Amino acid sequence: MADEYQYDVLVIGAGPGGYVAAIRAAQLGLKTACAESRETLGGTCLNVGCIPSKAMLHASEYYDAAANGAMEAMGIEVTPRLNMEKLHGQRIDAVSGLTRGIEFLFKKNKVDWKKGHATFQDAHTVKVGEETVTAKNVVIATGSSVTPLPGVEVDNANFVVVDSTGALELPKVPEHMVVIGAGVIGLELGSVWRRLGAKVTCVEYLDEILPGMDDDIRKEARKIFKKQGIEFKLGTKVTGCTVAGSEATLTMEPAKGGEAETLEADCVLVSIGRKPNTAKLGLEAIGLEVNKRGQVETDHEFRTKVDGVWAIGDVIPGPMLAHKAEDEGIAVAENIAGQTGIVNHDVIPSVVYTWPEIAGVGLTEAQAKEAGHTLKTSKFPMMANSRAKTNHEPDGLVKIIADAESDRVLGVWAIASVAGTMIAEAALAMEFGATSEDIAYTCHAHPTHSEAVKEAAMGVQGKPIHI
Ligand code: FAD
Ligand code: NAI
Repeated sequence: MADEYQYDVLVIGAGPGGYVAAIRAAQLGLKTACAESRETLGGTCLNVGCIPSKAMLHASEYYDAAANGAMEAMGIEVTPRLNMEKLHGQRIDAVSGLTRGIEFLFKKNKVDWKKGHATFQDAHTVKVGEETVTAKNVVIATGSSVTPLPGVEVDNANFVVVDSTGALELPKVPEHMVVIGAGVIGLELGSVWRRLGAKVTCVEYLDEILPGMDDDIRKEARKIFKKQGIEFKLGTKVTGCTVAGSEATLTMEPAKGGEAETLEADCVLVSIGRKPNTAKLGLEAIGLEVNKRGQVETDHEFRTKVDGVWAIGDVIPGPMLAHKAEDEGIAVAENIAGQTGIVNHDVIPSVVYTWPEIAGVGLTEAQAKEAGHTLKTSKFPMMANSRAKTNHEPDGLVKIIADAESDRVLGVWAIASVAGTMIAEAALAMEFGATSEDIAYTCHAHPTHSEAVKEAAMGVQGKPIHI
């Protein structure tokens, strides 16, 4: 195959979608290259997303526990001192260790890394920097970048108005951080700086935080964040921002119209969503149009409308999540190799890595009703879970949504310290088409947070033990 072209597969973008696609393609015996314009591999996720944010979340959790009474409640009395240099050092170490790891995996699997920005010349010819690369198959895995907010100009260099990348690197704890957008990034990074001592105010356009999640979970999460000291201005739109020295003044007004007000901050985080990266990719050269949301559309096998051109990850429709991109990366490589690569987009878990964590998989109650299901639902509070109670982690709940007739589980939602880990069993159960009875009669180890999933399932059966 590679005689006519230099490569069987060229992947554009080395994020979790692209690097995984490249490695799997190479494992399947295809001659593969991967183009990446960043200095390091791993994309948004490893360089400025999942990994550095979790490094900051993890460290700030320790600080918070020491500074704000959680350790003291267990008889451990300490007075923490924040060393910003070390805090950032461990974040940088985590990123460089993992990005170098991908470089090693590329070498091990014989994936050629083409350094530079890639632009289509035609469907099988791509210019990467100064080099021209030809391939029988090209996978677009260019990811996404921050959606700008008109009137609020991000400048990550001076740390006053920042996006998520700037918010990971703040050299000092802000006095007052205003987060625009109470979605995943706003709540995760807002939590980091709140724990380290900043006053945090989230300004959100909608009437509730965390759009896309189950309504009970959204409401409960807001109550918990409020208790932690995060303030919310819901139903509010930011109309502009002026910066004078190290101070920003935001102007905002009710989303439904009304009187304008101002808010002062020494740090503003713009986190109102992300947009697909398709600019300067030369899509016009191959006649590939993007949809209204700027995404590249594909079929279930991740083929675009142009023969030999495929797309995966944040650049295509669906949740912008690393694990979704990775699974699509494996599937696209398998499809290119003539195998059957499938991703079940109905069962993609999502996790917000705050304290406690917030996680879900499948349908929300509103979505399940809209889809015409008659429902049986049950909620089990973490307060009644022995492990959570013993660990001083009373906040949260597990909610299971099942079809009333078939008992099949349609959605599972959780707020718990380890909800991100707990949701994996729900995803597996749903992948296998489990009923709530299946979960209720599966033996769960004691004492674990996961018992709350079993108890919620027992609740759907009408027979919980501990409430
Ligand atoms: P990306 O990771 O964006 O990678 C695309 C790569 O393509 C980039 O490296 C880019 O430089 C390169 N590229 C683009 N255009 C070109 C071109 N023309 N030529 C060459 N190279 C190009 N998701 C989770 O699941 N869990 C999390 O905890 C999580 N945390 C996040 C935290 C933050 C702060 C952010 C911003 C995102 C987070 N995400 C998280 C989302 C996750 O990072 C993305 O969903 C994921 O990275 C998407 O993978 P991808 O491969 O599609 O694209
Ligand atoms: P988001 O879509 O999660 O949240 C954006 C929020 O901003 C929404 O609540 C929206 O209503 C609000 N908003 C939009 N315009 C606004 C305006 N003008 N004024 C006030 N509020 C406004 O997007 P976010 O947080 O930027 O994250 C981007 C993507 O990155 C997400 O889609 C997510 O999938 C991914 N991500 C995933 C993480 C995880 O899995 N833990 C962590 C961080 C990011």
